[in-house]
Amino acid sequence: MILELRGVNSFYGSSHILFDVSLDVPEGGAVAVLGRNGVGKSTLLKSVIGQLNPKNKSSVKGSIKYEGMELVGRKSHEIARAGIAYVPQGRHIFPSLTAKENLLLSERRKKGSDAYWTLERVYQLFPSLREREGTKGNLLSGGEQQMLTIARGLMQNPKVLLLDEITEGLAPIVVNELVDVMKELMKTGVTILLAEQNIKFALGASTFIYIMEKGQIVHACHTDELDRDTIGKYLGA
Ligand SMILES: Nc1ncnc2c1ncn2[C@@H]1O[C@H](COP(=O)(O)OP(=O)(O)O)[C@@H](O)[C@H]1O
Ligand SMILES: [Mg+2]
Repeated sequence: MILELRGVNSFYGSSHILFDVSLDVPEGGAVAVLGRNGVGKSTLLKSVIGQLNPKNKSSVKGSIKYEGMELVGRKSHEIARAGIAYVPQGRHIFPSLTAKENLLLSERRKKGSDAYWTLERVYQLFPSLREREGTKGNLLSGGEQQMLTIARGLMQNPKVLLLDEITEGLAPIVVNELVDVMKELMKTGVTILLAEQNIKFALGASTFIYIMEKGQIVHACHTDELDRDTIGKYLGA
């Protein structure tokens, strides 16, 4: 497993949010964490990337191992440098910079190595970003902005890509386009851990699913084994 969470408990101040979360992400796999609003999906991803720390009065207990390296207690920039890219919820792009400038700002290459993700490869995956490369971030459509945030994550050339609710607020047709992008991404060998409320998207964009409720993992299965009863029980309206 490239990423292994064992008995993770996360806190904001004295609020206990994640309870004994254990989860495995295989190298090259695509794992989805599904759950309703407020169950702790973002907290889980933030725990992995080191954003829960004393500085913002939050903390993580337990173990999060990435290629055998313990991440709990490490700083987020160290974790990013080690090869984990995080695309936070909401479209955090630079509004006054062009799409291309946004991409180049995120570029990260190991010295002396040929990084897989270049501007050209990113444009092949997202042809609309090539067309819009000279357009300022705030003038892109919602779908284009979200594609730009994913593309920026890729420009960091991560081994693991964490995606937090990238379908939020997008029209169904754009969500379908994103499923196609995810299928292409899965072929490149990058490891994906995504947090989602959109079941249809998660079904198309993952190979394994964990369902969360109130800060706990309540169900785990291969994506093609997720049945209607389980969806209704934990994710139904
Ligand atoms: N910075 C914070 N301080 C205190 N509580 C928070 C903070 N962020 C999230 N929470 C609480 O933690 C719980 C889980 O939130 P979150 O991880 O954002 O859930 P999800 O991403 O599944 O919607 C919620 O009850 C939320 O109110
Ligand atoms: Mg969230």
